[in-house]
Amino acid sequence: MVKIGPIELPDFPLLLAPMEDVSDPPFRAVCKEQGADMMYTEFISTEGLIRDAIKSRQKLDIFDYERPIGIQIFGGDEEAMALSARIVDATQPDLIDINYGCPVKKVVCKGAGAGILRDVPKMIKLTEAVVKSTSLPVTVKTRLGWDHENRNIEEVAERLQDVGIQALSIHGRTRVQMYKGEADWTLIEKVKNNQRIKIPIFGNGDIDTPQKALEYKNKYGVDGVMIGRAAIGYPWIFREIKHFVKTGEMLAPPTVEERIDICTRHLTRSVEWKGSKLGILEMRRHYASYLKGLPNVKEYRMKLVNSDNLEELLEILENLKEAQLQLI
Ligand SMILES: Cc1cc2nc3c(=O)[nH]c(=O)nc-3n(C[C@H](O)[C@H](O)[C@H](O)COP(=O)(O)O)c2cc1C
Repeated sequence: MVKIGPIELPDFPLLLAPMEDVSDPPFRAVCKEQGADMMYTEFISTEGLIRDAIKSRQKLDIFDYERPIGIQIFGGDEEAMALSARIVDATQPDLIDINYGCPVKKVVCKGAGAGILRDVPKMIKLTEAVVKSTSLPVTVKTRLGWDHENRNIEEVAERLQDVGIQALSIHGRTRVQMYKGEADWTLIEKVKNNQRIKIPIFGNGDIDTPQKALEYKNKYGVDGVMIGRAAIGYPWIFREIKHFVKTGEMLAPPTVEERIDICTRHLTRSVEWKGSKLGILEMRRHYASYLKGLPNVKEYRMKLVNSDNLEELLEILENLKEAQLQLI
């Protein structure tokens, strides 16, 4: 069992990574259904939370069936972080996660996200401010360091643990790498093997098959893995990894019916939660991933991204399912 404060996770838990504009409640619901052990919201700006920005507040929406769930915040100002921790605390997630990994310029420029990797004392102060402002467990998600020459994750991990964080997720890239190249897990392994480190260490970066998850588990000894991009349009990755780790066998892939049904459920949940206009619009980014690899889908995909009517969309998906079943 892996423990984060009072949260009890099964051995080798699979975490759904926080992903901006992706990890919203409709997406999280399908990942939970398929076995994600813990999930996070997309990152929420502390400035936005304090200004009461609607978009930031909406991201605080969490549901009981999602538990355990963490709300992720980012910011570069101590007072704003402390205040936001109190706001988040009031919504009662299971934990608060701090983002020190976002490589995007507009975030980094404000000394937030991965920008903070260049100023460890400030990172420690921000973290302390959050830890002191909440009774919830505080966790951190970060990268190996700013650039190749400054991969300071070993020091960062020790110092973050010393100020009270209760788990650390490490994406095996530097900020400068953005999402390029292959994630390097050897430093994640070093952090995990550091005798001083007592908190759970979750590895992140490029896990996209059950084989890789098991290989990395054995090779790098992490307490669990966090999965991002591979779950987009393929939430079955969670159940497939679970089964493979347990039995060494590959689970049969989802049927065409299952794939289209989950896509349909994702769409209807999206409309329920965001309203018709936004729900339909924001679902458009998911169709290509759900339909990846299926034959003769181009025409349907075009229709799906061009319709703004739920009934029509449901009909297109139903027709697509029938057409696919005839191909089998
Ligand atoms: C579209 C997208 C949005 C992301 N948004 C966030 C975010 O809000 N917070 C965060 O900590 N990381 C964010 N990330 C990084 C992921 O959580 C993860 O660290 C990264 O994708 C590597 O994992 P993967 O190879 O399993 O995708 C985002 C990644 C993607 C692709």
